[in-house]
Amino acid sequence: MPTDFPDHALHVACIMDGNGRWAGRRGLPRTEGHTEGEENLARLVRIAVRRNIGWLTVFGFSTENWQRPRPEVRHILGLHEKLFGRVAELNELNVRIQWIGRPFDSPMARTPRYVQRAIRKAITDTAGNTGMVLTVAFDYGGRSELVAAVEAARSSGEGVNVESIGEHLYLPELPPVDVLVRTSGEQRVSNFLLWQAAGAAIYFTDAAWPDFDEAELDAALALAR
Ligand code: IPE
Ligand code: IPE
Ligand code: MG
Repeated sequence: MPTDFPDHALHVACIMDGNGRWAGRRGLPRTEGHTEGEENLARLVRIAVRRNIGWLTVFGFSTENWQRPRPEVRHILGLHEKLFGRVAELNELNVRIQWIGRPFDSPMARTPRYVQRAIRKAITDTAGNTGMVLTVAFDYGGRSELVAAVEAARSSGEGVNVESIGEHLYLPELPPVDVLVRTSGEQRVSNFLLWQAAGAAIYFTDAAWPDFDEAELDAALALAR
């Protein structure tokens, strides 16, 4: 799919961390932090479009996050249904939404059908947009992605090399990450985009995800430009 951006359009990837602590500091339940985090993502998408970013990829839920308490997981699932339901906003912004994660039919996958449906519908309903590509990582883990890519490369008969692995990643169209952001003071990569972020600059900030604003994004972008 052609986009309005030249090949060098920036790819910013965010590990959206610190929702729970953001809420805790305010005496609110963790779920309120996740709700505010989703709202902030919607705000950030608008800002990223204004900044002419080509690709914005965000870590919404990891393969490990299923271990969290059931009510918290349910709340986060509902927020992904809401996020993928923001089709009118995405169309207004000419943003195409994508999803990256374990295939729904893989043995370990647990994504409920209502979230699968929201994801599929949002992808279809924004497929014609030619501006920024927003990729949401849900039930995503970088090591699993690499194992699957290597297996697929081997069984395709192409041999295992940098090109063939790249062609068999979950989303082969995703370009290399220019800047990897992690919020909330944690300085870890946490199994996110291990292959795609091999050469990324890294922006660590103490700001919690719900507080990651325009100035924060600009500070991250300064590392790439
Ligand atoms: C990030 O915020 C959101 C998800 C991992 C889903 P956290 O929930 O990890 O917030 P902290 O790290 O506990 O503050
Ligand atoms: C990473 O955050 C995953 C997401 C932001 C979705 P976590 O808070 O789950 O990560 P770790 O386990 O502390 O590294
Ligand atoms: Mg966390």
